[in-house]
Amino acid sequence: MTKLHLITYGCQMNEYDSERVAGLLRDCAYELTDDQRDADVIIVNTCAIREKAEDKVFSTLGQLRLLKAKKPGLVVGVMGCMAQLRQDEIVRRAPVVDLVFGSPAIARVGELVERARKAQRPIVETGEGPLVKITAKPAGTSRLKAYVTVMEGCEKHCTFCVVPTTRGRERSHPPETIVAEIRGLVAEGCREVTLLGQTVNAYGRDLTPATDLAELFSRVNEVDGLTRIRFTTSNPYNLTPKLVRAFRDVPKVCEWFHLPLQSGSNLLLERMNRGYTRERYLALIDELRDAVPDVSLSTDLIVGFPGETESDFAATLDVVERVRYDNAFVFRYSRRPGTPAATMPDQVPDEVKAERNARLLTLTTRLAAERSQRLLGRTVEVLVDGVSRKAAAELSGRTRCNRVVNFDGRGRVRVGDLAAVTIMDVLPHSLRGTLAVEAEEAVCLSR
Ligand code: SAH
Ligand code: F3S
Repeated sequence: MTKLHLITYGCQMNEYDSERVAGLLRDCAYELTDDQRDADVIIVNTCAIREKAEDKVFSTLGQLRLLKAKKPGLVVGVMGCMAQLRQDEIVRRAPVVDLVFGSPAIARVGELVERARKAQRPIVETGEGPLVKITAKPAGTSRLKAYVTVMEGCEKHCTFCVVPTTRGRERSHPPETIVAEIRGLVAEGCREVTLLGQTVNAYGRDLTPATDLAELFSRVNEVDGLTRIRFTTSNPYNLTPKLVRAFRDVPKVCEWFHLPLQSGSNLLLERMNRGYTRERYLALIDELRDAVPDVSLSTDLIVGFPGETESDFAATLDVVERVRYDNAFVFRYSRRPGTPAATMPDQVPDEVKAERNARLLTLTTRLAAERSQRLLGRTVEVLVDGVSRKAAAELSGRTRCNRVVNFDGRGRVRVGDLAAVTIMDVLPHSLRGTLAVEAEEAVCLSR
């Protein structure tokens, strides 16, 4: 059998795409291998969101060049956002590459790899294509949790972001196709799905008849055997009262909401073209907390956007302090070619970005630790997903609010069960707990 090795960088959407590629190539008799030295075909799935992500890919391609020197028949492919954005540069800078293809071409990956194996020069396929729903199916293993793309692309055009260029227009998959995919996953053992879209809460408005994420929640909620629904990423601009109600009312939707703020300064939000003000954002947080008092909130923040002054940055610290996020991802602004912000005046020096990054992280880490304390002593529902990484005698799983819990239930509950666990200890990156009810009841919880 021909052996395939996949290297995946970037977001959940990329992980999902890699699984789709693995599934499609398996149908063409390719077998997945973890060892790149063993592979006949290596595909690198790339991310272009920040410069660092791109640097990593070029350095990986450099290493693959050494591998190919020893194994001349090796086929190297590049897919994902960099393939879309930088196809010429990849071909020029990395002669090791035989194939470059964008996400619209994933459906034809089998044919493309075959062509690349025979061709003398690199094959580049980065044009637009029809939207095809291909279920991600990793080889043989049944999975407890799966990503399901519900829409592709983004047309928000935030001035710092390359995604609208790399992923194209917003296109939603019809609800029937999504539900069918989820039914298939559940039949193979899946219990939790994360619905993915760059602006997932803009879902459905391009379909005929138009629909929305709230309605999709209800449809997905009806899938028997599924226990949890998550979704990401929401954009504050599209957050409607209807979605907040569905978030509260649809039972399987977990109490975890990722809502990127980016900046707390109105001036910067405007220059970022985000479509909301800090006041509007804070009002949305109030709505979410009124609806679901126990909601866990996470966010994305950018420091050092062009023109960011100390007082703009202070406004971000202020919003973060008011919201008290359970988790926050802090990014230093990275200039992306072709985006409006890349040529804005007053680019912020690296040292200033680094210093603000550190200050913001100190704050978000402190607030997250304080928020975690609220879980101490509480009994929470944990979806058991494996054995603890640190102590083999313990099981591990996640709460509905997406926190890792290690607990002593081995032999009493199984992977895939929903267990009631009492939190005894709150650590920086995980929680420790003890099984609250005996096996039969815990298992009952999951049926
Ligand atoms: N669709 C999501 C964002 C996807 S990109 C949304 O609605 O916000 C994930 C995160 O990367 C963004 O939220 C942003 O914080 C960060 N990001 C995007 N472009 C960036 C850039 N040029 N520099 C630094 N961070 C960036
Ligand atoms: Fe990027 Fe803004 Fe869309 S951050 S993915 S352009 S919502």
